[in-house]
Amino acid sequence: MMTALNKISRNILFLCCILGFFIFGKRVTSSTFAAYHCQNTTYNPRTNSAYHANLNILLDSFSSINATNTDNGFFNSTAGRDISNKVYGLFLCRGDVSNDVCKQCVADARTKIRQQCSYEKTAIVWYNECFLRYSNESIFSRRDTSYWITFWNTNNVTQPDLFNPLLENLMNEITTQAANEGSGKKFATGDANFSAFQRLYTLAQCTPDLSSFECMTCFSNAMSLLPSCCHNRQGGQVVYPSCNVRYEVYKFYDSTVTPAPLPTPNIIPPLPRSSSPEKGRNSRAVVIAPIIVSVLLFFVALFFLRRRFSKKINDGVEEATGGNEVSNEESLQCNLSDIQVATNNFAAGNRIGEGGFGPVYKGTLPNGEEIAVKRLSSSSFQGFQEFRNEIVLVANLHHRNLVRLLGYCFQGEEKLLIYEFLPNKSLDYFLFDPEQQLLLDWSIRYKIISGLARGLLYLHEDSQLRIIHRDLKASNVLLDGNMNPKITDFGLARLFLVDQSEGSTSKIAGTYGYMAPEYAMRGQFSVKSDVFSFGVLVLEIISGKRNNNFHESDGSAEDLLSYAWKQWRDGMPFALLDPKIGDSYVRNEVIQCIHIGLLCVQEDAEQRPNMASVVLMLSSYSATLPAPNNPPFLCHSTT
Ligand SMILES: *[C@@H]1O[C@H](CO)[C@@H](O)[C@H](O)[C@H]1NC(C)=O
Ligand SMILES: *[C@@H]1O[C@H](CO)[C@@H](O)[C@H](O)[C@H]1NC(C)=O
Ligand SMILES: *[C@@H]1O[C@H](CO)[C@@H](O)[C@H](O)[C@H]1NC(C)=O
Ligand SMILES: *[C@@H]1O[C@H](CO)[C@@H](O)[C@H](O)[C@H]1NC(C)=O
Ligand SMILES: *[C@@H]1O[C@H](CO)[C@@H](O)[C@H](O)[C@H]1NC(C)=O
Repeated sequence: MMTALNKISRNILFLCCILGFFIFGKRVTSSTFAAYHCQNTTYNPRTNSAYHANLNILLDSFSSINATNTDNGFFNSTAGRDISNKVYGLFLCRGDVSNDVCKQCVADARTKIRQQCSYEKTAIVWYNECFLRYSNESIFSRRDTSYWITFWNTNNVTQPDLFNPLLENLMNEITTQAANEGSGKKFATGDANFSAFQRLYTLAQCTPDLSSFECMTCFSNAMSLLPSCCHNRQGGQVVYPSCNVRYEVYKFYDSTVTPAPLPTPNIIPPLPRSSSPEKGRNSRAVVIAPIIVSVLLFFVALFFLRRRFSKKINDGVEEATGGNEVSNEESLQCNLSDIQVATNNFAAGNRIGEGGFGPVYKGTLPNGEEIAVKRLSSSSFQGFQEFRNEIVLVANLHHRNLVRLLGYCFQGEEKLLIYEFLPNKSLDYFLFDPEQQLLLDWSIRYKIISGLARGLLYLHEDSQLRIIHRDLKASNVLLDGNMNPKITDFGLARLFLVDQSEGSTSKIAGTYGYMAPEYAMRGQFSVKSDVFSFGVLVLEIISGKRNNNFHESDGSAEDLLSYAWKQWRDGMPFALLDPKIGDSYVRNEVIQCIHIGLLCVQEDAEQRPNMASVVLMLSSYSATLPAPNNPPFLCHSTT
């Protein structure tokens, strides 16, 4: 059934319309058509005359809207009473346009949607200044990210190293701002100087009927698509039914300003091509609505099921988010048969390891891309909970120091997570093996420490959601071909809204030797318990020794942390350094890393630095750091 649907979906997509173009260099005095999307839901106006009549009533009602009932540029309405012929419609104008422009745009959109999608039960049309959609099913107050369109400027930026971080920061800033606008417009713009001659302009908008959380999720999805369409481009836009983000190097959102006379940004919506994985996903996402609905229902059912058990298992994401996290990333759904082919039907020879909740297989897609497939071994409830947790979290995270989720799949008993494949295994494989240790020279170790710090900072502070990993350790750090570290295994991670920062649990899960004392003893976890694990990891990377299996010949210290601290206190920090590193290290960097490691493993969580300070300390070793206190004598050398 799945394949049949996919086939249909592809056909539909080829025939159905994603068309659009842009007119540039002209003063934006009226609305500019961008694209439309008609789902293949054609009806017969004769046999469905009631629906047809209601649709006309609805669209006509949009023309008589005056400024008072749409002061935030958003309007929703329905026509018809009978569920079988009721029509739901809405429009939203860009946050900055005047009432007149909004009105004109909606009028144009009404005409356009009738022309392009005549006799469709569901349709949407986008203009630069507004969009309009209707459906035979309720579309109010729910996030729809089931299909999208991207636009980009074909000109490339000249200094991507400056441009990309600026863009990332600005986007994070304005999307957070827009999502958190209370009841009015969920709209924000921001700009910044990029060079002496160029300025970067960004815009983000959600339909205001979404909750902040749903809006944020929509934006994260949109931002995660930007690299695939618009990497290093001077302009880019991702448009979902529920939100859109856009950036340009000219001011595009103030209608009174003429766009800078740049060469025509040739904005083209991508036409579906099944050869490219990105487009393949796009095309699948367009029409898998029935599947999405069943997946959603499944999640909802699961949620209620969980509710009933929640007295027993009082330890889930729901508590932190009020259940809103059922934000499955439908676009990442993939086909079981594709994965079976890619992994040679989970052949034993393709098995590359054991993950948090089951075996991991290597696979190769038809296009040659290598993937790692995590397979949930049993149908255990706990395992599935962690599996779902991982989808929800990782699907919304994008950072070069985090492992990227490419897709997931569950069909029948099979529950799979598909990740980018990293050729170099995990950090513990190198760090604690006498042969492999030689490959980790100081510059690589330093790079790993810095990368981990940035990845963790992103989880804690920058990803719009506050995420506590809870199980950071050497085996959860994978290395890519250039030995860049990537954090993985989010099965235990906990999601927090940004104003929350601590939680506690009665079920302590994690890895002995990396757990902060307050977590191991009292179940309290916070960003500072992750900082502790980071500190342990830093000291392990420097020394090449495991904290939880530590032997020192003179017997003066029973764990790595106290050993490191004693050497530091006695003015012999280099005694900690892994002899395999040899002489080619930078003294300042070593000292600085040991110092940071010791600050992170202090017993008092308050005294540990947060990851923002750690990243700052790593970026400037002239900074004077506070003296570390004694680490806890908790981590015995038992396993
Ligand atoms: C629309 O879907 C129907 C089946 O639901 C199919 O028979 C028809 O060919 C499709 N039309 C287009 C234009 O894709
Ligand atoms: C909306 O239309 C689609 C396609 O014709 C149909 O499958 C679906 O059941 C309709 N929904 C409602 C609520 O009538
Ligand atoms: C608009 O949507 C809201 C839910 O977001 C709903 O409560 C309201 O009734 C809708 N308005 C109309 C006119 O249908
Ligand atoms: C921009 O870069 C892409 C890929 O690097 C290249 O294919 C394209 O031709 C470049 N465009 C311009 C206008 O230089
Ligand atoms: C950005 O550049 C413009 C023109 O060079 C200048 O007038 C303006 O002050 C700069 N703004 C900031 C925030 O640096």
